[in-house]
Parts: sequence; structure tokens; C-alpha cells
Amino acid sequence: MSGKSIEPSLFVFFGGTGDLARRKLMPSLARLQARGLLGDHSYVLALSRKDNFDDASFRQFAHEEMRKAGVSESACASLCKSRLFFQCINNSSDEDFQTLKARIEAIEKDNNLPQNRAYYLALPPTVFEHTIEGLGRAGLNRSAGWTRIVVEKPFGHDLASAESLNARIHAQFDESQVYRIDHYLGKDTVQNFLVFRFANPIFEQLWNRNSIESVEIAVGESLGTGGRAGYYDKSGALRDMIQNHLTQLFSLIAMEVPSVYEPEAVRHEKIKVLRSTLPPTPDDVIYGQYASGAIDGEKVIGYLDEEGVAPGSATETFVALKLRVDNWRWQGVPFYLRTGKRMPQKTSRVVIKFKGAPVSLFQSMGEVGVARNVLVLQLQPDEGFDLYFDVKTPGSPFDVQRRPLHFSYEESFEEIPEAYETLLLDVLEGDQTLFVHAEEVEASWKLYSDLITNPPKPKPYFSGSWGPEAADFLGVDEAHTLFRS
Ligand SMILES: NC(=O)c1ccc[n+]([C@@H]2O[C@H](COP(=O)([O-])OP(=O)(O)OC[C@H]3O[C@@H](n4cnc5c(N)ncnc54)[C@H](OP(=O)(O)O)[C@@H]3O)[C@@H](O)[C@H]2O)c1
Repeated sequence: MSGKSIEPSLFVFFGGTGDLARRKLMPSLARLQARGLLGDHSYVLALSRKDNFDDASFRQFAHEEMRKAGVSESACASLCKSRLFFQCINNSSDEDFQTLKARIEAIEKDNNLPQNRAYYLALPPTVFEHTIEGLGRAGLNRSAGWTRIVVEKPFGHDLASAESLNARIHAQFDESQVYRIDHYLGKDTVQNFLVFRFANPIFEQLWNRNSIESVEIAVGESLGTGGRAGYYDKSGALRDMIQNHLTQLFSLIAMEVPSVYEPEAVRHEKIKVLRSTLPPTPDDVIYGQYASGAIDGEKVIGYLDEEGVAPGSATETFVALKLRVDNWRWQGVPFYLRTGKRMPQKTSRVVIKFKGAPVSLFQSMGEVGVARNVLVLQLQPDEGFDLYFDVKTPGSPFDVQRRPLHFSYEESFEEIPEAYETLLLDVLEGDQTLFVHAEEVEASWKLYSDLITNPPKPKPYFSGSWGPEAADFLGVDEAHTLFRS
């Protein structure tokens, strides 16, 4: 959020009745509207192939869906009252896009709006390209005001498909119009990485190979395929989590200091660090697949028994891998990326393990072992961070314990906004800082191209465990212990 004022505009949602629109997009817009952040003249047009809605019945439907998503009555009402419109289109033929054009122009005329338009593709990725080209052929890629397009994940399924999607987008839209979403970047805790590093100089001075021994980025989910087995079985953890979310977290932790806090400068540094990173070698990667087990005392089935998973599927539900950054700052510092389904609990964190003392005076005393500090940036649950110190236990015998200096978002602030609230507002403000640049997405796919071509065989692990034991060498010691705690 740049704090710029919001210009009058029309937000057009493809896939307006879909899961994302119902659970995230419309609720986020309603909350923004209720907080007065959308200005007086922001309108929304939801699109669907369903022909059983008109404006009035769609407003009722949207109101009910937003209520289910926990939005207050007054916020639902403020969006639905007169700012929300519905249009049935098939988005397949040129005629459909002409229908859309006519409806957009009618809403703009009726409400005295300039031609400021944002299109959001809340659609299955199989129809992204077709929809983008339809908008271009209808002349909806340009306007007298501004025109922006928001593209959801997954952005391609490998380097070639991402390059092809970028080329087809760029045939219709300039890069400055394109907002590729990775909703992790909208989380306040993730944006706080930048503030933590660049507003607190004591950390930035330590943020290099002289002081840091290793970095672990870990995202664990307790859920299995969650009813998405058909999609997940073709994707797997590398594509679903590592290539986008975890690699984004990695680039924010590893990037150099940008010259200014502006979209181009921040994105340029992220692209640079991705290009300095070496693709993981086969020895640096472990894949896993969950077998049956128990989570919170409840028995759960194994991946291969989930409905929609192909018999004998070799899709990975767990990945642990090591990245090395070939630059002056990070030479010799391993970055461990680790993600898995059916872990004992949902957790996302970055663990920075600082180097130990050259001589450990207290090694034999208490629980501590080698004297070192560890910083844990916790994304969820319990958003905040902990900096672990060794402290003397009061009294005798002389003993040393590890204790955290703790900061909690929940204890310090009343409300943390949904990631989509931040991102939708940024689209309307024209701030691309938290969106993924074309070159960034390609550099990220390139890192994992060899792995996609030659994937290792996944090792089984019990549901409710922290993944295959074979992965323990990737991020073991304190960082690993903390992840497991
Ligand atoms: N759901 C989430 O929490 C989530 C999270 C992160 C990213 N995403 C991404 O967001 C996008 C939308 O996700 P979603 O879960 O909302 O998907 P979805 O429910 O499967 O689909 C969204 C809507 O797209 C329309 N649609 C489906 N097939 C179509 C086709 N062939 N041509 C035109 N329209 C079609 C359908 O609307 P009509 O039948 O009404 O036309 C459907 O309701 C996907 O790219 C997904 O990867 C979703």
C-alpha cells in the first residue's frame, strides 16, 4: 500500500462466482470499502458463464457468500448496495468480449467513471491466455484512463510455459500493466521482512556470510490434498509451494538493499539474487510423499488412497532442498527450503541461524550447547519474531538456558489485514512492489528446471510426522529443532 489516493475505477472479476472470488476477493473488497479505503467511486463487475443471475440476485448471492466468509453485515451491505454489478459472459468468442465491452462502457457512463479498469483473472490457468487475447482483440487492453490486469497463480508449470504465458501477455499488455499475484507477498509479516532488514540497521550489518551460518524457510501444512487432488497430483509441492511462495520468501531474505523503496528497485534486487542462485544438485534435494498416519489424534489416509490421485502416483507432497547463492554476501551460506503436507501442524517460518562463538565458554552447562543466536521470523501462526539468546539461570549451580526476545503482532496491533486486501488496494493504487515481475517468475522457474526434468523418487513419510528422515541433513541442528518444536 503506497497510501496514494484511489482514483474512480471499475474492477472486473473473471470467475466472479468461483471459490477465490467468494472466499477472498469479494470479502476483501467489502472490508476495504467499509474502512473507507476504496474512495467514493470504486465499482465492481463480476463475470460468470452462469446465466441465472442479474445485478440484484448476484448482490444477494454475494452478500450471503461474504457473510459466510465472516464479513460484517454493514461491510457486505456497503459493497452490495449499489457498487456491485453482474454480467454473464462465456469468455470464449469475440462476441462475448464485445458484450463485456458494452457493459463496461455502460457502467462507466451511468456512474460518470473515467476509463480506469482492472481485470482480475480468478479463472483456471487453462483459460488465462485465451481470456487475455480476447481482451486484446476487443481493445479492452487499452483505455483513455489506466488499464491493469491481475494474473493468479499458478503462473505456468515450467520455464517454457511461463515464458510462453509472458509472451502472450506482453503481446496485449505492457509489463507496467501486469500484476502477477503471489498472495504470500501481501502478508504483513512478509512485507515486514523488508522493514526488519532495512529499517533496523543492527540486523542488516549481520546479514551476510560473516555472521550467518544457515537460513531455513519452512512452510508446513497439516492438510492433505483438501479436495484438490486432481489439480495437486499434476502439480506437486515443488510447483505448488517451492517455486512461488518459498522462493519469494527466499528472495526477500537474500536480496541486496534496494536504492529506494519503489517497485522497480525492489523487484530488480529480487531478480538479481535469483539470478545469482545456483540450481539445487540432486544431492541437495529430498522428495517425500505422505503415507497414512494420524494428525491431532485423527487417523488420516495416505496420499495414494486420496480420491483423484492417479494409481502409483510419484507426485511429491514434501520437498526439502538446499540453495546456494553465488555472490559476495552469501557465499558458503546454505538456504534450506522445506515444505510438506500432512505435517503435525500448520506453520510458516524463517529461521536464521547465526554463527556460534569461536570458543564456547559455557558449552558444558545446561541445555544450550554451542553458544549462538537464532532469529525466528514467524509468518503463521503467532505472527511475529523471536530472537533467541543464552541467559544465565538464576541461582546456582551455574547454568545457561536459551530464551527468546519475543515480538507478537497480535499483542501489539489490533488487526492484521488479509493479504488480498493489501494486494487489491495496491492494484487500484498502481503499486507493483508486491507483485511478481515477468523476469522474476522466469528466473524462479529456471532454478528448478533440472529438478522438474529429473525429479527424485519421493520417499514415504507418516502423516503427522515432519517428513522423511532422509531429509534431516537438509537444515538439521537448531534451525531444524526449532521447526520441529
Ligand atoms: N481458491 C483459492 O483459495 C485460490 C488461492 C490461490 C490461488 N488461486 C487461483 O485463483 C484462480 C481461481 O481459483 P478458484 O479456486 O476460484 O477456481 P475455480 O473455483 O475452479 O474457478 C473459478 C471460476 O472460473 C470459471 N471457469 C471455470 N472453468 C472455466 C472455463 N473453462 N472458461 C471460463 N471460465 C471458467 C467458473 O465460473 P463460472 O462457471 O461461473 O463461469 C469458476 O467458478 C486459479 O488460478 C487458482 O489457482 C485460488
